[in-house]
Amino acid sequence: MEHQVIFQPSGRRGRVKAGTTILEASRELGVEIESVCGAAKVCGKCVVKIETGYFEKFGIDSKTEHLSGLQEEEKEFLSPADVADNQRLACVAEINGDVLVFVPEESRGAKQVVLETGKERVFDLNPALQKYYVELEAATLEDHRGDLERLREALHQKYDLSDALAIDFYLLRDLPKIIRAGEWKVTVTIWDDREIVQVEPGLSENLYGLAVDVGTTTVAAYLCNLKTGATVMVDSMMNPQVRFGEDVLSRITYAMMNEDGLDKMHHAIIDGINTLAQRMTEKAGLVTADILEVTLVFNTAMHHIALNIEPKFVGRSPFAPGIKSSLDIKARDLGIRVNKAANVHALPVEAGFVGPDNVGVLIAEEPYKQREEIRLIIDIGTNGEIDLGNQDRMLCTSCATGPALEGAQIKFGMRAAPGAIEKVRVDHETLKVSYKVIGSEQWFPELKKTEARGICGSGIIDAIAEMFKAGIIEPSGRINMKLDSPRVRKGEDNKRPEFVLAWAGETSIGKDITITQGDVRAVQLAKAALYVGAKYLMEKLGVDKVDSVTLAGAFGNYIDRESAMVIGMFPDCDLTRVVAVGNAAGDGAKLALLNKNKRVEARQVAQMAEFVETAIEPDFQSRFVAAMGFPHSKDRFPHIQHILDGVKRPGKK
Ligand code: FES
Repeated sequence: MEHQVIFQPSGRRGRVKAGTTILEASRELGVEIESVCGAAKVCGKCVVKIETGYFEKFGIDSKTEHLSGLQEEEKEFLSPADVADNQRLACVAEINGDVLVFVPEESRGAKQVVLETGKERVFDLNPALQKYYVELEAATLEDHRGDLERLREALHQKYDLSDALAIDFYLLRDLPKIIRAGEWKVTVTIWDDREIVQVEPGLSENLYGLAVDVGTTTVAAYLCNLKTGATVMVDSMMNPQVRFGEDVLSRITYAMMNEDGLDKMHHAIIDGINTLAQRMTEKAGLVTADILEVTLVFNTAMHHIALNIEPKFVGRSPFAPGIKSSLDIKARDLGIRVNKAANVHALPVEAGFVGPDNVGVLIAEEPYKQREEIRLIIDIGTNGEIDLGNQDRMLCTSCATGPALEGAQIKFGMRAAPGAIEKVRVDHETLKVSYKVIGSEQWFPELKKTEARGICGSGIIDAIAEMFKAGIIEPSGRINMKLDSPRVRKGEDNKRPEFVLAWAGETSIGKDITITQGDVRAVQLAKAALYVGAKYLMEKLGVDKVDSVTLAGAFGNYIDRESAMVIGMFPDCDLTRVVAVGNAAGDGAKLALLNKNKRVEARQVAQMAEFVETAIEPDFQSRFVAAMGFPHSKDRFPHIQHILDGVKRPGKK
């Protein structure tokens, strides 16, 4: 005898044999219901609600009496109010008549989750790690199977997993103990459907991973709950390798010039990751062994150094990396102190200087899914990466931006942390400055005394754009010393021009915070590198304009797009189509951690993207010089022409 069952909200319907449980019916009809314990009736995750009454639209009369009676196990998880609300456990209730079943959000498998980040990114939660609860037959004198074989068979029978699953060797050593501690009931965590990486006594739901973005200057880490998709904690630190060199090339040189240079830098970054993992798990009330997988993104040089792969050849023509494919390595082999059996997944390298971090940006932003729109994506870091294209063709390049836009190598530069000036406005007539400091909602001078300690990347871009608009900086980049303002002066130490952004009395450091001529120069070099790179890509793709610009980077959340265009960081574009998305590379690392399909996408896009080497172009130098001007010596910016027309220039009324 068969009965009709309808699942909502999916609307899936069909006929199932009498006696089939709701969970079995859901599988037959392709509806995913959470079942952590695999129908062992011990997790309580498979709660569904029976809608009662006659549903004309479907032609069925749904009744609670059409299900088998409430069982003792269900009372463990359902309160009397839940029972009165017609809730049941899907793995217990058997279908004996027509029913309409509503699957509430929290019981739905394959959840769609929003990434907690600067930008809303919806993705399917589908990590490489999955948990399975099994109850084993206890060993007897008659049953001589080994513990591992017993476990494999149970997993095979209950979940149809391979009966030849591998097991981490360190875990194997403890397996007999764990199985007996759980009295033959265990939760098994399997990585990539092929290796058992954790066995815990009884039922366990904890599942955590760590995504790390190893930047040249900063390292950002995200502790994620792989069961819910939530980011439990975010933390960051300076890349401890900075002491060996500020940028990628100086670090490669350090590795070449010192016999133990590579080893030292490798250990420095691994120690850094360990510090972050320790700090974050402690704060979250976890232990490092709770982290069962780590995903890493970095530029190619950081990738090689972090993995202790010879980086020498990445730094010299033809810039061939040691490996381009993605890598899966045991954390313990790298010295990363998380769970001993944990896997580290390093995203693939695209080309010489375009590394897994750019792949991270791409899988987060997905320009390759765009039909017609030509998207320009700029990831601003010490090493800048640029992507251009859509589903038909993707081009990429990299450029040595230097750390200026991250606030380093700037006299009062600092990370985007409390105390950093992040937004600046300059009055064109009086040259008075108002600014906003991270950590406070009010602007100076409304706020009399600020906690200003320095200036971060977005503040630097704002300050320079505002100084240009007020005529303090000339189109060539020179600070105009003819202006009659105490803010424009010669620096005490080197007598070079500078502009006072904040007077000592306003700050928490008791010193004037200034933008120096050297700072302006550093920003000019960075923005020219980005601009020239973007223009080359446009030419190679055969387009003379882009439809949208995406600014990524650790400080990108707060970057003022108008300021960025006024200083000429990227070619002209409709300002309403310029968006800042924050640390997209870090988001990419998180997405690869939370959804294994993103790793497949990463592999595909790394192959699809064509690398364009711009530095060897014969006219690179002359283009670079032209791009140093504000916003550019030659190119026009129709979308901000009204702003440029208002720029005060010496001799201009
Ligand atoms: S699946 Fe665990 S209680 Fe139903």
